[in-house]
Amino acid sequence: MKIYADSMGPEQTYKLLTGIVVPRPIAWVSTLSETGLTNVAPFSCYTIVSNMPPMIGINIGRKAGVRKDTATNILFNSHFVVNIADETLLEPLHQSAGEYPPQISETQLLDLETLPGESMPVPRLVAAPISMECRLHSVTPYGDTGAEFFVGEIRVWHIRDGLLNDGKIDSTILRPICRLGGPNYATLGKVVTLQAVSQTPKTVL
Ligand SMILES: Cc1cc2nc3c(=O)[nH]c(=O)nc-3n(C[C@H](O)[C@H](O)[C@H](O)COP(=O)(O)O)c2cc1C
Repeated sequence: MKIYADSMGPEQTYKLLTGIVVPRPIAWVSTLSETGLTNVAPFSCYTIVSNMPPMIGINIGRKAGVRKDTATNILFNSHFVVNIADETLLEPLHQSAGEYPPQISETQLLDLETLPGESMPVPRLVAAPISMECRLHSVTPYGDTGAEFFVGEIRVWHIRDGLLNDGKIDSTILRPICRLGGPNYATLGKVVTLQAVSQTPKTVL
């Protein structure tokens, strides 16, 4: 089968892409609104952007042309927290994607406890095994739907005791969840360990 990209609209293309680019990690992003409400929503179009300083990026789309609360809040106060959910948090993570109006706080609605950020006013989720406090670095729009790629510089990492082993996160202890196409998720399957391939050490320019 062959599909010409320009024969499809945004909804069809979204379905295709999100079934092909799998499995995707999930950033469970907490932000603070102009009125002081904590917003939380999941975003799986999410990746590493830089090691030094550490930066991560999230692609935030729009709802019928209108910015999502997460994007509005980040643009308002320039900070956000990327929380990482484990298997036990799948249900609230999924529910937090509901299209609630800005005056509804998902953390209150879903009974998610928060703690104040250390480097910023935005709270993090207590139940998350990892939270990364980020300061907005840049926002870049892409394409015709108004989607924007938000890059944040990580200022503080909160990592649950026992997860970090020799400088690396132990995935088998973390038990991360990932997004597939549609309302489908996967948990960590069999871990296959190969002989490490030698890589030139990372340096700053
Ligand atoms: C697992 C999961 C991953 C998602 N990933 C994205 C994403 O990468 N980008 C996006 O714009 N929306 C994504 N969504 C949809 C948003 O979570 C949803 O639009 C949510 O209502 C946004 O909330 P907000 O308006 O409070 O920011 C995802 C939903 C789920 C369930």
